[in-house]
Amino acid sequence: MNYISIKNIDNLSQWVQDALKIKKNPLKNKKLGKNKTLGMLFFNPSLRTRLSTQKAALNLGMNVMVMNFTNEGWTLEFEDGVIMNQGASEHIKEAAEVISQYCDIIAIRAFAGLIDKEKDNAETVMAGFLKHATVPIVNMEGATGHPLQSLADAITMEEHKTPHRPKVVLTWAPHPKALPQAVANSFVEMMQKQENMDFVITHPQGYELNPEITKDSKIEYDQDKAFENADFIYAKNWSNYNEYGQITNADSNWTVTAEKMALTNNAKFMHCLPVRRNMIVTDEVIDSENSIVIEQANNRTYSAQLVLQKILNNVK
Ligand code: CP
Repeated sequence: MNYISIKNIDNLSQWVQDALKIKKNPLKNKKLGKNKTLGMLFFNPSLRTRLSTQKAALNLGMNVMVMNFTNEGWTLEFEDGVIMNQGASEHIKEAAEVISQYCDIIAIRAFAGLIDKEKDNAETVMAGFLKHATVPIVNMEGATGHPLQSLADAITMEEHKTPHRPKVVLTWAPHPKALPQAVANSFVEMMQKQENMDFVITHPQGYELNPEITKDSKIEYDQDKAFENADFIYAKNWSNYNEYGQITNADSNWTVTAEKMALTNNAKFMHCLPVRRNMIVTDEVIDSENSIVIEQANNRTYSAQLVLQKILNNVK
């Protein structure tokens, strides 16, 4: 079993309930991972993913090895048949096979480069490990998805569930750097699995996500209208998908403010973090009692622990 995408979740509501059980007693399966090793490979920086996934593995009694490829590993070649006379020192074929001898599960973070859409959509790094590793792979945020984050988001929304069918809004917000679409993509895919929620995506014209992911999810270009009667506001920046990787809008009118939150049904505010204060969201909103961003980050441990537990139950 691999965990690469929200599509790997066969029954979201059951997974959320299972994660909540783990949260109540996180050390219950302390022996499950005895003598098993999780290898965590980072091709990009992290705070939450690194620490929560490591904590999840430790809760299961696993050993953990972490490697930062940005400054510690050899530069890898992912193309087959090339003459390796440029920057890359090692081919993914050897690297993945070698790491598989040291680890029982390999978890990978490898963001979109935001230069070559085709290459990003092909998930070059994740696909290379999936092809050549001989152990299960966990996606700790790839080029197009962040499924551990979205599972944690589903757990957090369940903990704050409303007595009525909730309205959930994914809103774009401005950011000074070009960011990947991965978090927004997985959030959309997770919401498409929610049976009893109304879901709206709001963003400026031209900031449409990959239509193969959004499918028939509702898009509302008027942010104020989208916020009306919302129960959850999930803010995230992403760079332009059509003009790939470009920032074509930095309109501060899209920042989530107290005035905008006043349009909602006393909505909870969500963000995956790290967040740029007073760009994505004002201090007033993120510091308010309706902000559940710290709880979201806490639930990263239980989403990771559920995934590792499911994989360990499959590993002989
Ligand atoms: N949300 C999230 O993945 O945080 P990090 O980038 O800090 O891991």
